[in-house]
Amino acid sequence: MTRTNPRVVVVDAFAGPGRYLGGEDGSPLILLKAFLEHASRERMRAEVVYVFIEERQDRADYLSAEVAKLARPANVTVQIHRGKYQELFGPILSRLQQPGRRPVPTLAFVDPFGYSDAPMDLTGQFLQFHHCEVLIYMPLTAVAQHLSRAGQEVALNSLFGTDRWTEAIALRGNERLMFLHDLFRDQLRASGSTYVRSFEIRYGGANGYHLFFGTRNLLGLERMKEAMWKVDALTGQRYGDSTESGQLVLFQVEVDTAPLLAALKAQFGRTEFSIEEAERHTLIETAYAVSHLRRRTLAPAERRGELEATTRRQSACTYPDGTRLRFGS
Ligand SMILES: C[S@@+](CC[C@H](N)C(=O)[O-])C[C@H]1O[C@@H](n2cnc3c(N)ncnc32)[C@H](O)[C@@H]1O
Repeated sequence: MTRTNPRVVVVDAFAGPGRYLGGEDGSPLILLKAFLEHASRERMRAEVVYVFIEERQDRADYLSAEVAKLARPANVTVQIHRGKYQELFGPILSRLQQPGRRPVPTLAFVDPFGYSDAPMDLTGQFLQFHHCEVLIYMPLTAVAQHLSRAGQEVALNSLFGTDRWTEAIALRGNERLMFLHDLFRDQLRASGSTYVRSFEIRYGGANGYHLFFGTRNLLGLERMKEAMWKVDALTGQRYGDSTESGQLVLFQVEVDTAPLLAALKAQFGRTEFSIEEAERHTLIETAYAVSHLRRRTLAPAERRGELEATTRRQSACTYPDGTRLRFGS
């Protein structure tokens, strides 16, 4: 029996034309080039299927022409679908499943706002991702401005999957933004993404621009956090983890791990814990990546006498699997 290679799917659900007027790549081309120009591409045998969905014919056509200019290896296919995300997304993903195999790993990028004359024209249930990982761009500042406008109820119900956004109408400024942020985060969790984190992009003094990431898979969460910490801020921009409202942890080259140490102390107190429990807490409950834990957080705490190992190790300040630890005074 011949076995086909595993398949992975990358969806850009609101793809746009692929190139901005200034010539910069749009998200479909950025996603495509991330694989085509990857240093390890030759070693990646999986079949990679890109699915780009765009409602407007002119933009879909423009995107097709841009994609056609790129040389692609045989294991990369690109499908461009003209139509509405909410009608096409589910059926397309069902067709891409491989019979007898586990569900095909899928990452969907969702960027529905702006670019359009009717930015809030969303119909159909929005938070339906059929078990795939999602990255959703949400300019909450723009969404907040639409709350009290007549005729937006259907779009906002669809966006949040509930009418609880109406509670934000009575709020102002940052309080309104935080309410909408937390509502969207919680709705995304409730819709099946077990692990949800949000990343805020600050343009100068402007805030409220978020990327929400949702997954059911811990490895997916780990990879996304590692990637987010590596993004270089563009001039005039800052990025950070904003999952807990009001507690932005900025992504910086010189990582300040004091909040991670405080979170671990709050979690474990004086009780013994394993390195695996510390990793899990870091990954799921904090803004930090697992790679920030040992050398940058635990080892300095141990050198200061704030942490001790209760199991034998070959050397101090190392934390092999199975190591057990306890915070001291
Ligand atoms: C913000 S733009 C996407 C920009 C793109 N992500 C980029 O970075 O280059 C949103 C796009 O979604 C398209 N669109 C709007 N409603 C849609 C729908 N229901 N289904 C699919 N595409 C839609 C718009 O025509 C527009 O091109």
